[in-house]
Amino acid sequence: MLRVDDLDKYYGDRQILDSVNLEVRKGETVAIVGSSGSGKSTLLRCMGLLEPFDGGSVSLRGSVIAKGSESRRHERKADARRRTSFGFVFQNFNLINNRTALENVMEGPVIVKGMTEDAARKRAVEVLERVGVGHRVNASVPEMSGGEQQRVAIARSLAMSPQCLLLDEPTSALDPELVGEVLDVVSELAREGVTMAIVTHEMGFAYGAADRLVFLKEGRVWEEGAAQQTLRTPRTPELATFLRRFHYSSMPVQDGAGLARAQDGRATPPDGVDRPAARSGTSPLGEVGVSDLCLVPTTEGSTRD
Ligand SMILES: Nc1ncnc2c1ncn2[C@@H]1O[C@H](COP(=O)(O)OP(=O)(O)OP(=O)(O)O)[C@@H](O)[C@H]1O
Ligand SMILES: [Mg+2]
Repeated sequence: MLRVDDLDKYYGDRQILDSVNLEVRKGETVAIVGSSGSGKSTLLRCMGLLEPFDGGSVSLRGSVIAKGSESRRHERKADARRRTSFGFVFQNFNLINNRTALENVMEGPVIVKGMTEDAARKRAVEVLERVGVGHRVNASVPEMSGGEQQRVAIARSLAMSPQCLLLDEPTSALDPELVGEVLDVVSELAREGVTMAIVTHEMGFAYGAADRLVFLKEGRVWEEGAAQQTLRTPRTPELATFLRRFHYSSMPVQDGAGLARAQDGRATPPDGVDRPAARSGTSPLGEVGVSDLCLVPTTEGSTRD
């Protein structure tokens, strides 16, 4: 579906992304993790054509939609058109403050897609209900909680029927008690087969909801693989070290999006395959069964290298 080949990105003389290869297959959820400054947001922005890049290419459904050299020449018009293939969800919601939830969601379909007001309203109500804020359609942005605002932002992306949803730390600006409701919505979308790449520090979510995990370090794909296996038994010491910065605490199932899947069995590792490394003590997950747990960032220290 979405492919990034040998993508290079510089800011000035500094190389930010170094020959990044990444694929998001149709219906797949790819979690992108890594320390602060490793290039996660830059990669997501380049993938979604929000940011020009210097080398390599981005392809959608088998066709190259942006090349480094061209993208440097800022083929902005073409990029703007192709960008509508993507839905973006950012940390800070980016809603229009003095409008209602409904108006925020209707705007794209009316202005960009040329939908009639009636059709756009119907679509907006549909997607707002899908993310559980159907009762807030007429609330203005300041009247909504952060969790509601972020769910409206997700609805706004979905209203445009994107081929791929790109989410950059959608829960990191939320109060801790609101994180779960947003992750639940994202997990539900993952289950429904929405194609997604998501930058996240929520390792429990990555474990439970992502199909694949990509670990970026110093602008390179350092390690990637099936999400659960990669989190349980990282191959590189760098990923193991990164994961050690998260501590693992039990959380009620309803609070940890991915854990709902763990409980209904889909995220539980099959018998016999489960956590040999944890038993031997080499896993950063230690002795604790990860499928029972949610991983949350430690409060002490930062995730910066
Ligand atoms: N517009 C810019 N101009 C110059 N340097 C930039 C710009 N945007 C990002 N950078 C640099 O590129 C590097 C990667 O930044 P990026 O925001 O992609 O990291 P990140 O992995 O998303 O980090 P975080 O977890 O803190 O969000 C950083 O060193 C950052 O300072
Ligand atoms: Mg970032």
